[in-house]
Order: sequence, then C-alpha cells, then structure tokens
Amino acid sequence: MNPLYIEKPFALIIFGASGDLAKLKLFPALYSLAEQKRLPEEYYIIGYARTEKDREVFQKEFIQSIKDHHKDVNKKILKSLTDKVHYFSGQYDKKEDFKNLKKNIKAISGKSSITKLAYFSVPPIAFKDIIKNLGETKSSKNEDLRLIIEKPFGEDTDSAEELFHFVARYFNEECVYLLDHYLGKSAVQSLLHLRHSNKILNFMMKGPEIANIQISALESTGVKDRAGYFNKVGTVKDMVQSHLLQILALIAMSIPISEDADSIHREKENILSSLKFIESPKNLVLGQYENYKKEKNVPEKSKTETFAAMRLFINRETWYRTPIYIRTGKKLKKKHTYVVVELKKFAFQPKDEEPNRLIFELQPDERVIIKLINKNGNNKEYKAITTSDSIACTGDDCLPEHALLLLEVMRKRRRYFLSFHEIIATWRITDKIRKFASKIKVEKYKDKSRGPDSQDCLTEIDGFTWHEL
Ligand code: BG6
Repeated sequence: MNPLYIEKPFALIIFGASGDLAKLKLFPALYSLAEQKRLPEEYYIIGYARTEKDREVFQKEFIQSIKDHHKDVNKKILKSLTDKVHYFSGQYDKKEDFKNLKKNIKAISGKSSITKLAYFSVPPIAFKDIIKNLGETKSSKNEDLRLIIEKPFGEDTDSAEELFHFVARYFNEECVYLLDHYLGKSAVQSLLHLRHSNKILNFMMKGPEIANIQISALESTGVKDRAGYFNKVGTVKDMVQSHLLQILALIAMSIPISEDADSIHREKENILSSLKFIESPKNLVLGQYENYKKEKNVPEKSKTETFAAMRLFINRETWYRTPIYIRTGKKLKKKHTYVVVELKKFAFQPKDEEPNRLIFELQPDERVIIKLINKNGNNKEYKAITTSDSIACTGDDCLPEHALLLLEVMRKRRRYFLSFHEIIATWRITDKIRKFASKIKVEKYKDKSRGPDSQDCLTEIDGFTWHEL
C-alpha cells in the first residue's frame, strides 16, 4: 500500500465549482491524486455553485476538464473518481442552502460527522458569506471542518485584518488553510529542504556574506481573459505581495530546527515583517506592455502596471546592508522564475571579476546552480565553473501544486500554507510600495522584451547588474 495513502474519509466541497480555478486546477489535481492512489476508499467530491444543473451535467464537465489537462487518462480511474462526484446548487449568502448542503452530505455518506474540506474557489467578494454560513451551520465546536482559501486575502492591510477578524469569529486559525499555489511547487519547497539539510548552503546564505539577492519571475503571457480582475490589482499585488515575498522569506529566513508549521511560519514572519522599502524613484520601476490597453476589458486609460521591479532591504542585523531586487512582469521574452544569490568578493579581488553565485531555478527548469571562478591554466584569465543539478521532483511522489496542497490539507499539515501574521506583514510592505507607485510613471515596454530598461538603475545604484539566465 502507498505509505502516503490517506485513510480518513472526507467530503471535499468545492464552492464555485463552475468556475475557472476548479476546472483548470482542482479537477485535474483530484485525478492526479486518484491516479497515484493517494485517496482513501471513501470520499465525496461535492460541487457547489449558484448555477442550477444536474449531477450528470456537472460530472461531464468534471470529466472534460480532466481530459483537457491530462494526456493519458485511465478510464477505470476516471470512472471511479467521477462516481464520487456530486453537485448541489445554492446561494453563498443563504444559510438555508448550507443547511441543505449538510443534509445532503449526510444522506450521501450515511454519516452524521465526516471530515469536510471546504475549498473557496470563488471570487473574494463571496468569502465572508461562505465563512459565516459554514460557521453558523457547524454542528459542534469539534466538527472537523477545514477551510481552504486561495489568495488574494484582502486587498490591503486593513481589509486583510478585517477578513482575519471575521474568520476568527467562526474558526480557529488551525482550521484555515490559506493557499498560495507557489508553496505547492516542488522547486519552491526545495528551497527550505535544501537549506534544512545542507549546512554548506547556509554558510553561503548568511546575510553578511551576500552582496545582493535577485528574484525574477518573468512571464511570457499577457493577462489573457483575466483583465477584469488584473486591471484592478496590478502586478505588485498580483505577484509580489504573496508569491515573490514568500520566495524571499524562504531564502532569507533562519532555518528552524523543526520543520513544523508554527516554526516555519514564525521564521518567515520574522523576515516579512522586517522588510523595508525606501520611497524613492530609485527603488521602484513600473511598466505596462505596449498592447495591454488593447486587451479585452482593459480601460483605454489604464495605468495598471504589468511589470514591476523594486529594491528592498531587510531590517535585521544580519541582512541590514544587503539589497534585495525583485522583478516580475507579463509579456516578457520567456517564462522563467529564478533566484540569484550573489556572494561578496574578497576585498583583493578585481572589481570586474565575476562573483560567485548560487542560483535556484524554479520554473520551467528546476535546478540549483553554483558558479565558481577558476584560473585558466597559467593564463591570467579566470573562467567560471558551473556546477548544477536538478531539483525537479522525480518518481511517484511528485504531484502538481494543487494536488500536493490538497493532500497536505487531508493530512492536516499547515507548513506549506500561510499564517495570518505573514499575510499581514506582506500587505504592510505592499501597501507602502503601492502608495509610492501612484507617484511614479508607468513606462511602456515592448512585447517579448525584458521589460523597461530603467530596471537596470535599481541594481546600478549598488554597483550590481541583473543576472540574466
Ligand atoms: C497567479 C497570478 O497567482 O499566478 C497570475 O494571479 C500569474 O497573474 C500566476 O500569471 C503565475 O503562476 P505560475 O504558477 O504560472 O507561475
């Protein structure tokens, strides 16, 4: 039997089951779990949305989304998975509908209490209604109900605080799994595993030894059909606030002795709450791709940034003077996410000599690269030696992001989810950046380019350059 197999029966309720997230990510993730025999004998998948439809129609949509995302679908596995799929329509703001949902789950499962995983695959505007109704229809304090809420959590510090106070009226933080899908990426998880298991890396990753850290998350696609959402938020909120600050936290945090959720959250929060952004045009560059305003649902005069590059610091003793450069944008040359840790040189090394670099490539390639410098024979020249190895997950344990995170919820493990405190800390710094962003010009950049050239000014202040891979 697969040692990773989950035994406890559960009902997974997907709120917003007719939406894109469910079809693009959740249904295919469930198939991956079934294919790898990670699910218990007994489980139920309950689609819930406002649209009325028959169970059979929903099952057909479920099957189609799996076929769209998996190459070789095993008919037997698909059938047994689809047999567990049910659908109920209801409003998010009607307590009566939630009571009925509970009755229906009881009728299907024949159990008065079964672990329930409630996945919020809905726009944030529906979060509070669902939280309230789930909270008010709980049969007892001990009912095993776990909420899985995907980012964005709030739209600034105040609204996030308000949302967390609201959640806390009904649920303990331990029941709430705040999901950022970047933490489900196996290469992102490797950042912690590698650091936890290799002292050599931690010697290299000490603040006083590091010249700078660069985080690049470059995307080749544009906003596609998500302009309605994206145009209201922009890249700083969409990518930096959670995904990229989480990567930074994993790179800069102290390594906790134990890998339990509380210890990891605490160390990440230490970094996130110490971030400093100095208001100056030297520290922020914003851009918009040239055809952005021609995209469907983008207002003619939109000033929303589709590219952002910034220079931050960490206000902690060991990181005090290490600049952190973060850049991300859409419609760039290629999709590439990577972190470069540039090490300081000896005082006697010539300025133009290449520094040592430790590079974590996170996607599409997943590998760790170390660059060393060696003298080329008796020549005066030096050459860089690159050693690299894959950190890609291989074998049977590998799962796509949402499948892996669902499995973590089933196992009641919260280390790859976010804590309330971490989220508030990331909003605090994001608010500061956003406030200043309104004062600077959004530059145009060409499709398939590297973004605005002025991004180079950020690193040049400190005498560095972006390391392009
Ligand atoms: C999402 C953002 O959270 O992450 C998108 O809303 C972005 O705008 C996406 O494209 C990037 O995710 P990934 O996994 O493709 O790097």
